[in-house]
Amino acid sequence: MSLLSSSRYLLVFFLLDFCLKAFPKEQNRSFDAKNFGPDANLSRLFALYGDAKAVKSSRSVRISGSGAFSAGRMICRKPINLVEGYPRKMVSFSVHFEFSMSGVNGDGLAFIMVPVVFPLNIFNGGSMGMLEEKDMKFLAVEFDTFKDEKYGDLNNNHVGVDLGSLVSVKVSNVSSIKLELNSGEKLQSWIDYEANSKVLEVRLGRLGGNKQVDPLLSHHIDLSRMWKNEDVLLGLTSSSGNSSQKCDIYSWNFVSRTMPHWMHSEPMNPETFVDKGGEEIKVHRTRNDCAMKILAALIFGGGCGALGAFVVLFVFAIFGGRRPVTPEDLAVQPEKLEHKTLVSAIDKPIQDGKK
Ligand SMILES: *[C@@H]1O[C@H](CO)[C@@H](O)[C@H](O)[C@H]1NC(C)=O
Ligand SMILES: *[C@@H]1O[C@H](CO)[C@@H](O)[C@H](O)[C@H]1NC(C)=O
Ligand SMILES: *[C@@H]1O[C@H](CO)[C@@H](O)[C@H](O)[C@H]1NC(C)=O
Ligand SMILES: *[C@@H]1O[C@H](CO)[C@@H](O)[C@H](O)[C@H]1NC(C)=O
Repeated sequence: MSLLSSSRYLLVFFLLDFCLKAFPKEQNRSFDAKNFGPDANLSRLFALYGDAKAVKSSRSVRISGSGAFSAGRMICRKPINLVEGYPRKMVSFSVHFEFSMSGVNGDGLAFIMVPVVFPLNIFNGGSMGMLEEKDMKFLAVEFDTFKDEKYGDLNNNHVGVDLGSLVSVKVSNVSSIKLELNSGEKLQSWIDYEANSKVLEVRLGRLGGNKQVDPLLSHHIDLSRMWKNEDVLLGLTSSSGNSSQKCDIYSWNFVSRTMPHWMHSEPMNPETFVDKGGEEIKVHRTRNDCAMKILAALIFGGGCGALGAFVVLFVFAIFGGRRPVTPEDLAVQPEKLEHKTLVSAIDKPIQDGKK
């Protein structure tokens, strides 16, 4: 008898365990960091490489600027994954940071997302602290203050999206919104990636201003396909080139959100496709996927309902009184049932007392 009841407990335990494992916890990588300085607890969130250091007077992290050809990186310690959980969920994110750059001919600043295998402490003179010859799947949003002919740069005041190379796939002229990246003025930037529409948007403005509606630059890209399940690190990187350009970061805020994979909508702007044919096939397949997933969810839900009923029955069998449920009990008339239950409730303490 005791063997039977302990096996019931065991079964309930396994069912609960199964249910908990089926819905894993979501990662929360959000952070909001400001007022940097040597006394701030920077190292909890960030690792500094190269010449990057906290500066007390400006309450900032100076990524580069300790002299000519200085370079540094500020990297978030915790990697993120743009595909998470089961069922698969795509991760959208928003980055906001405040910065300033001074001096001419510096290379500028870049927000980067790099694979965890990226050699973070190696600098070989690459522009904005990036490595040149490394074959890495990285994303960089460059705030470039140097017209580098080698990369076909637009001018010495532009924002660009780079994928695995410092030759930008999309650029935008910062002069056209009447801002100057390296004026020494504090600026802020918003970088948003929407996993549903697969659009990366970059906005730039003066400190204190509101986030604009229209982005300075927008690019269609499927980041979750680029890295698949690989963990990536977020960072800000800068190099001063042959100049004394100082690059300071005053705050950095990051928020991520997840959206179930089957909730894909069609891209907002089909004209921005890089690879039109491939993308159309994907949209079609996503619809089939969607139907399959709804079916799977229904079957799963049905299964869960059955398991739930099972659990309730077991729990009832364990806790719901000692009297076994027999066909005789079930045959009792409704009027009699009330009386019988009352009697058995009165009887019980006496019976127990007798024992
Ligand atoms: C994520 O963590 C931050 C602080 O680290 C917190 O403010 C935020 O509410 C959390 N978000 C969720 C969805 O749990
Ligand atoms: C800094 O962060 C570490 C790691 O979380 C923690 O152990 C330490 O107490 C913190 N120090 C201060 C001064 O907040
Ligand atoms: C960038 O914008 C400025 C101001 O509108 C303009 O004078 C300049 O020619 C533009 N540069 C390029 C390369 O388009
Ligand atoms: C750096 O700039 C100085 C003056 O602007 C120039 O004389 C020197 O040749 C430059 N060095 C390199 C390596 O480009």
